[in-house]
Amino acid sequence: MTAAIALPRILRIGGGACRTAGDVLVQLGLSRPLIVTDNFVVAQGWAERLQADLASAGITARIFADTVPDPTVASIDAGLACLRQAAHDCVIGFGGGSPIDSAKAIAVLAAHGGAMADYKVPHVQDAPGLPVIAIPTTAGTGSEATRFTIITDEASDEKMLCAGLAYLPVAALVDYELTLTKPRRLTADTGIDSLTHAIEAYVSRRANPFSDGMALNAMRAIAANLRRACADPLDRAAREAMMLGATQAGIAFSNASVALVHGMSRPIGAHFHVPHGLSNAMLLPAVTAWSAPAALPRYADCARAMALADDKEGDQSAVARLVDELARLNADLDVPSPGQWGIDADRWNALVPLMCEQALASGSPANNPRVPNAAEMAELYARAWG
Ligand SMILES: [Fe+2]
Repeated sequence: MTAAIALPRILRIGGGACRTAGDVLVQLGLSRPLIVTDNFVVAQGWAERLQADLASAGITARIFADTVPDPTVASIDAGLACLRQAAHDCVIGFGGGSPIDSAKAIAVLAAHGGAMADYKVPHVQDAPGLPVIAIPTTAGTGSEATRFTIITDEASDEKMLCAGLAYLPVAALVDYELTLTKPRRLTADTGIDSLTHAIEAYVSRRANPFSDGMALNAMRAIAANLRRACADPLDRAAREAMMLGATQAGIAFSNASVALVHGMSRPIGAHFHVPHGLSNAMLLPAVTAWSAPAALPRYADCARAMALADDKEGDQSAVARLVDELARLNADLDVPSPGQWGIDADRWNALVPLMCEQALASGSPANNPRVPNAAEMAELYARAWG
């Protein structure tokens, strides 16, 4: 079998990488960027600093700072309108997963037109849009290295997964120094998101030797550093490892896939506005315990990569340690249950059938080593409820 791997053409990784944007654009022959970002990045002074860095390379950049968390069709349309006010030849996504996902969507609609809903899976958008340069400020989504974007259709409360090479950034500037001010809750949520990417890429039915290497490296880095980064935001070594792990996990799942946790997590985010990493965390222990019997050796490898078991320990016992650790990690990082987070039980129960339907439609559950039917998925939502 051939593994079809796709990566950004340029990766610049390390402290200060984000300051090299001008150089990277010149390398790529690009000169008229729109910076797509949010108010947090503007408030930090980073958007203006990027504009200044680009200016010293002779590049004039405009800024669109009105992206929203869990970007919506309306927020993408606003960004597109801004882009059309001037002649732009590329889009720089600067921020967490939402600004980068917004940049990707704007870049595709700018070149190909139509409505965002036209682009959701099973449609695959390989024909390129405008080139995207990604500068992540969270160690989490891995969006800087993936061929996906997720846009919420606010009319139907559906998180639309959009896939294809058009969404893969041509360059990613991966600079952990941008994460030093990230608050504990965000550090925990985005870190668990990365860990979920790595585990799901590794156990995915579409895993391959290339994605495996990236996934295992990411698990090693994240397992050893997530609690450290949460305990001490200024732990530079932990932040650096988490940032690299997040990008490697993004590369892993972009070239394999995510699976059941993400499939079930998106509807929780869409209906109840639970942050993405948090809804993954709510599901990860239960879904791992349910899925593991179908791929015991693979989950045992995850336990070993996370230093929870050594090579001598049998698979069954290693996997038990993995499931325990995922529950303990949630407890240590104060991950609430859906009820504790404030979700109304009646509304949750009423929406479970629709959430199961939307999860299945995304295609992600089919990549899981154990594929649930709707009734089994409803049971997993019940277990995640606690
Ligand atoms: Fe994710």
